[in-house]
Amino acid sequence: MAVDVVIIGLGYVGLPLAREATSAGMSVIGFDVNKALVESLNAGRSHVDDLSDDDVTDMVKHGFRATTDEREIATAGAAVICVPTPLFEEGGPDLNAVQSATQAVARNIHPGMLVVLESTTYPGTTDELVRPILEAGGLVAGEDFHLAFSPERIDPGNKEFGPGNTPKVVGGHTPACTEAAAALYGRFVETVVRTKGTREAETAKLLENTYRHVNIALVNEMAKFCHRLGIDLWDVIRAASSKPFGFQAFYPGPGVGGHCIPIDPNYLSHNVRVRLGYPFRFVELAQEINATMPAYVARRAQNILNEAGLATTGANILLLGVTYKANIADERESPAVALARDLSSLGAKISYHDPYVAEWRPDIDVVQVDDLEGAVVSADLVILVQSHREYDADQLAAKAKRFFDTRGVTTTDDAHRL
Ligand SMILES: NC(=O)c1ccc[n+]([C@@H]2O[C@H](COP(=O)([O-])OP(=O)(O)OC[C@H]3O[C@@H](n4cnc5c(N)ncnc54)[C@H](O)[C@@H]3O)[C@@H](O)[C@H]2O)c1
Repeated sequence: MAVDVVIIGLGYVGLPLAREATSAGMSVIGFDVNKALVESLNAGRSHVDDLSDDDVTDMVKHGFRATTDEREIATAGAAVICVPTPLFEEGGPDLNAVQSATQAVARNIHPGMLVVLESTTYPGTTDELVRPILEAGGLVAGEDFHLAFSPERIDPGNKEFGPGNTPKVVGGHTPACTEAAAALYGRFVETVVRTKGTREAETAKLLENTYRHVNIALVNEMAKFCHRLGIDLWDVIRAASSKPFGFQAFYPGPGVGGHCIPIDPNYLSHNVRVRLGYPFRFVELAQEINATMPAYVARRAQNILNEAGLATTGANILLLGVTYKANIADERESPAVALARDLSSLGAKISYHDPYVAEWRPDIDVVQVDDLEGAVVSADLVILVQSHREYDADQLAAKAKRFFDTRGVTTTDDAHRL
């Protein structure tokens, strides 16, 4: 084939994948329905944290090209689908993008093609949703074309583990499909881990994220009662982490965010409920606990002001860092939004500072500040929501009238800690 692989969906997952394959010398194109995005990528502009404009320019120089013309899918030996899998308003999985991307592949599928789904989804999606769409034209998966699922494990902002050195889980519709997918990823990923089938690969991803979700909920719940009992949970976690086996540290925070942790476990619990008729109680409890954190932080903020004889109504509260994790620009599902709303409904005036965010619109009036030090000094309360590397928390806490550290990074008595 003229093209080794077409990446479908050029977002946080698809673009770094396209870069890795391009760097390995493969001939790569990207298909996306967003025309403006396609044009800006072809002009060498990146829209994701892990790639710079220079990286994208370099990809283009090495033959990468983005397109909105789905007929180009037919020129590729393999198609990898990396489109979004959000939730509907009522909490169920929204697979519209997966469905329409698969339909685009189906209209251009050819014998011998390898099709891989990377989007995070519930067990059975590859077999029950993707396969029938691809087979509608008469070709049969496992006989005429290869079909596999391979979850994306990208950790935006992680400098140590990227797409090349994070082991890649691969599960095919048949053993030959697994091998075809393993051969594709083997060209640019150091380690490929094979599963029995597509469902095991789909569930492996959901287990990983549910594990994080549940353990974050565990420490979040502990944070609440430790505070009331006068126990420093951060010190507790530091001590427990000295155990060289059987313990992995998770940290409390103002709520979970991003495109994965608050969403993916729902794919699993929804699936268990629909298919088996009972709740996946761990996930639902974790969901409930993590969702209370922004309101908990707002209540603690109110108490800190109260202790100083100040009302929350009219108080100037400065939020530091509004993205969902440190050192990246991604604001999706950031708990800072719920926190800002809660504080605003208590009557506080909210300002924010974030070196990664050009403009933030949480549906309430917020004022962006550029002068970090000046704003820290003048605010009635500063809340460290996201511990970006640009913030020297101890130094800022020393300057602030009141400083509430929700990330446990301060070491001085100047700060209140979650
Ligand atoms: N972002 C992460 O950190 C991360 C990590 C692991 C897994 N995932 C999973 O990977 C998948 C993709 O996530 P993302 O963060 O890259 O999303 P994204 O929103 O950053 O990018 C998705 C891209 O797909 C495009 N798209 C939408 N519908 C399309 C269609 N029908 N055909 C072609 N392109 C289409 C969009 O225009 C967009 O550019 C999701 O299932 C997500 O859960 C994401």
